[in-house]
Amino acid sequence: MGKSIPMNMDRLKTDFAGIKMPTPVMGASGTFGFGVEYDDFIDLKQVGAIISKGITPLPRAGNPGVRIAETPAGMLNCIGLENPGIEKFLSDVLPKVKEKAPDTTFIVNFSAGSVEEFGMMAKKLDVDGVDAIEVNISCPNVKAEGLAFGTDPEVAAEVTREVKASTSKPVIVKLSPNVTDIVKIAKAVEEAGADALALINTLTGMVIDTRTWKPLLGNITGGMSGPALKPIAVRMVWQVAKAVKIPILGLGGISTAEDAVEFLLAGATAVAIGAENFVHPDAVVQVAAGIDKYLESRGLNHVSELIGKVEA
Ligand SMILES: Cc1cc2nc3c(=O)[nH]c(=O)nc-3n(C[C@H](O)[C@H](O)[C@H](O)COP(=O)(O)O)c2cc1C
Repeated sequence: MGKSIPMNMDRLKTDFAGIKMPTPVMGASGTFGFGVEYDDFIDLKQVGAIISKGITPLPRAGNPGVRIAETPAGMLNCIGLENPGIEKFLSDVLPKVKEKAPDTTFIVNFSAGSVEEFGMMAKKLDVDGVDAIEVNISCPNVKAEGLAFGTDPEVAAEVTREVKASTSKPVIVKLSPNVTDIVKIAKAVEEAGADALALINTLTGMVIDTRTWKPLLGNITGGMSGPALKPIAVRMVWQVAKAVKIPILGLGGISTAEDAVEFLLAGATAVAIGAENFVHPDAVVQVAAGIDKYLESRGLNHVSELIGKVEA
């Protein structure tokens, strides 16, 4: 187990849509494994919540070819949702997570190919050991020529209704930034019954190799993450926070406590760290400790005093 870092948990403890967490800083889906992989680097008890790699109905080997490309101030990935599938997740992975990190809040991220499949996944995940579910609607809808569920307000709402009807867990819907008006999607998902929103997922990008004239990524395009995303994500959180009442999990390009504070001021109740985990595997707890220091320096008693306080 990694060393714990001193921080005042009284100032940091957070209730996110009924999900109790020791800090408001979570490990983002796809960048934090199932959490337990980080046990050598951090004290998992100091993690706000582990958000799992995206689980799908069947096991997936992911995309062939190059899956990661570095860009200035960020990276692109086209992992292709490599994961063991829901059955193996429930039989093998979940018990291991609960054995190694029994006290850490565990949120399962998942996606599916149709509205019905989303409901089936939510039902299967309605088990002990799962504290909440995060619905990834950035994936392609096989019945709509591969258009992502999260790009159409009505379809995003349909997925949300189906998931809500299939589970007793808090439902976080993770929005795609690859849309013209994210507020429209956020409001549709809130009306459909989501308990919380997470934003943002990756922005679609492309890198071309000028020596070969070929795309660098095996999948041609990929999802952009990292510091370059932050101003876009903060803007979207701010716009959505003004339009909805449900809590927001803000993410996209957070590397430092100051970055996280920007999201909280914009209106997020909690934050998640993605690509930065690859640079600093202790980022989730370092950012929480940094937020604590920031609160102390400002004479604030609790992190909730920052939420939505931007003077804009
Ligand atoms: C390698 C990698 C894999 C990811 N896998 C998933 C996933 O399975 N499900 C999901 O909802 N988001 C996934 N994401 C998106 C992140 O959770 C996050 O929304 C995005 O990277 C923006 O945050 P960041 O800039 O802090 O990385 C992935 C991101 C990366 C870099």
